[in-house]
Amino acid sequence: MQPAQHVLDVAIGTADLTIEMLRRGKAEQVTGIDLSDQMMRIGKEKTDKHHLPNVRFMHANAQSMPFEKDTFDAVTCAFGCRNFQDLDEGLCEMYRVLKPGGQVVILEFSYPSNRLVRALYDIYFTRVLPWIGRVVSRDKTAYTYLNKSVKSFCWGETFARHLTDAGFKEAAWETLTFGIATIYIARKCIIDN
Ligand SMILES: C[S@@+](CC[C@H](N)C(=O)[O-])C[C@H]1O[C@@H](n2cnc3c(N)ncnc32)[C@H](O)[C@@H]1O
Repeated sequence: MQPAQHVLDVAIGTADLTIEMLRRGKAEQVTGIDLSDQMMRIGKEKTDKHHLPNVRFMHANAQSMPFEKDTFDAVTCAFGCRNFQDLDEGLCEMYRVLKPGGQVVILEFSYPSNRLVRALYDIYFTRVLPWIGRVVSRDKTAYTYLNKSVKSFCWGETFARHLTDAGFKEAAWETLTFGIATIYIARKCIIDN
């Protein structure tokens, strides 16, 4: 990600990505939106603890953002898109509020293509993780949702096509950690047709 002045972090949650961006000098100021006030409360505690004052938390829906068009220098979203009710609406909103020339950077789970990694992944996500989730959070459904939502979501070229359909150009992606996550980068053109 290229350094940017004012970044919109969509689905900021507990602010892990925001903290990392600020600590690495990728953003000077971050506005984060999320539907969950409880997640953002924990995020605020974490940014305070790290002495990062340049973060504004706002309750807002990624599918209908309360910002003018061309507001932010970059837009990021880590592990949020999979949860949108309508992915295309969320991506179109990211495109609208991004300044021409700005980057969108999206991190999301994906399903590994290597058969061995896929088998290990299936064992971990269908047996090990739900068990850990049950013991630690006492919530059986929370960690079975993760596996189901990853498998029913798109990744790679298909996700990049959604970015292009929303108006973004130069969509590229790179798989991480044997394909269990993918990072997508695209740009809003300076001449917006
Ligand atoms: C896995 S967490 C995000 C983690 C966060 N990006 C981080 O770096 O720590 C997913 C978040 O997406 C939020 N979310 C889901 N749908 C949303 C929507 N339509 N608009 C805004 N936030 C949404 C959830 O409330 C949740 O906090």
